[in-house]
Amino acid sequence: MTDKTANAMWGGRFAAGPDAIMEAINASIGFDKRLAAQDIAGSRAHAAMLAAQGIISTSDAEAIREGLLTVLSEIEGGQFTFSAALEDIHMNVEARLKELVGEPAGRLHTARSRNDQVATDFRLWVRDQIDAADQGLAALTRALLAQAEAGADWVMPGFTHLQTAQPVTWGHHMMAYVEMFGRDRSRFIDARARLNESPLGAAALAGTSFPIDRDATAEALGFSRPMANSLDAVSARDFALEFLSATAISAMHLSRLAEELVIWSSAQFRFVAMSDRFSTGSSIMPQKKNPDAAELLRAKIGRILGATVALFTVMKGLPLAYSKDMQEDKEQVFDAADTYLLSLAAMEGMVRDMAANPDALRAAAASGFSTATDLADWLVHALGLPFREAHHITGSLVAEAESRGCDLPDLPLDAMQAAHAGITEAVYGVLGVDNSVASRTSYGGTAPDQVRAQIARWREALG
Ligand code: ARG
Repeated sequence: MTDKTANAMWGGRFAAGPDAIMEAINASIGFDKRLAAQDIAGSRAHAAMLAAQGIISTSDAEAIREGLLTVLSEIEGGQFTFSAALEDIHMNVEARLKELVGEPAGRLHTARSRNDQVATDFRLWVRDQIDAADQGLAALTRALLAQAEAGADWVMPGFTHLQTAQPVTWGHHMMAYVEMFGRDRSRFIDARARLNESPLGAAALAGTSFPIDRDATAEALGFSRPMANSLDAVSARDFALEFLSATAISAMHLSRLAEELVIWSSAQFRFVAMSDRFSTGSSIMPQKKNPDAAELLRAKIGRILGATVALFTVMKGLPLAYSKDMQEDKEQVFDAADTYLLSLAAMEGMVRDMAANPDALRAAAASGFSTATDLADWLVHALGLPFREAHHITGSLVAEAESRGCDLPDLPLDAMQAAHAGITEAVYGVLGVDNSVASRTSYGGTAPDQVRAQIARWREALG
């Protein structure tokens, strides 16, 4: 029965070891070694609980604890030899523990299965990524707030359809992203609260007959409570899907901002200059300064969304409880988390370092008949015209300015009066871009006072 190539952890009923191809497709150690710290934390909590409950002796628990600390330092120090024959991180750690402490190591897996073990490890790992995302988003928000504060009253064109629409302020535009990334942060915080329940003690799927204390292990690992259903505890991966979904939404926001930076830094716009630290040159065109980091951020959503779709596809249609399909969850989440956190850091650096060009912003804001809506509103306020009629008159004045090759404020009064006899000198007061933005004082509007109030609110919230 005990062929020496049979698996030492589960090979009792096997006469022969696995085919090399079986070993290659089955092993997850190549990637799940990233769960080592979480795996050892989970095992330490489990062993301490087993001793406290009288399920193993205190001396065995002490040997396990010491041994696990040695394993951790070997892994952290790069001296650990990972083995594909031992499949995954759980069995690699346990096998090394056996080498180090002997017989007590065999008692660690009492009242536990790799199914609740991996679910616990993975939750702990994703929780750490959520905390890192939270910090990264806070840092990016601070960089956006600094930009908004510097340019709370710099006038720039606001666009719809990427056509000049109405003047807005630079601060207002920056604060739009503060709102988006603020919602991203709250999505991560919500996901964390739902994730933060402990699967440990669910065992293979049905719970255990040993008198374990699941509250104790949950508390030791910083979970709010144990999961209430053992089948669910080992089967659920919605915590990972929620993390991926929140990451994908936020990466989509990063992509939109990145696209604006690409457009704005072009020679045609010159709204911003990206710093050298976040740009690259061309090997053939010496004049080029390319916004590569922004372009990469515009693209990273593809990879993150791909991971999200991949894990949904793995999980759909799986019967309860654990199936080996679920081993396919980790690489997607690892890659998405790495990609997202790097993207956040790159965006924070770009936003922090970029220099807006207030003159170019203002010049662009004043062109393209951006105050046409202000003129129409004035006709309503001052002359009591219905808005539709005001809209029509303004349209004819835009056409007139266009044919003369000038902007609205340059049209002489007699040309204005040809469109409507009631128009007076006072109209010129609303045609300037500063007046236009200053007048938009409705809550959430672009007026500098509104923008400053929002900056103050966010600074207070960030602490
Ligand atoms: N490496 C496995 C995974 O990532 C651990 C759980 C294995 N459980 C089992 N019953 N084979 O899913």
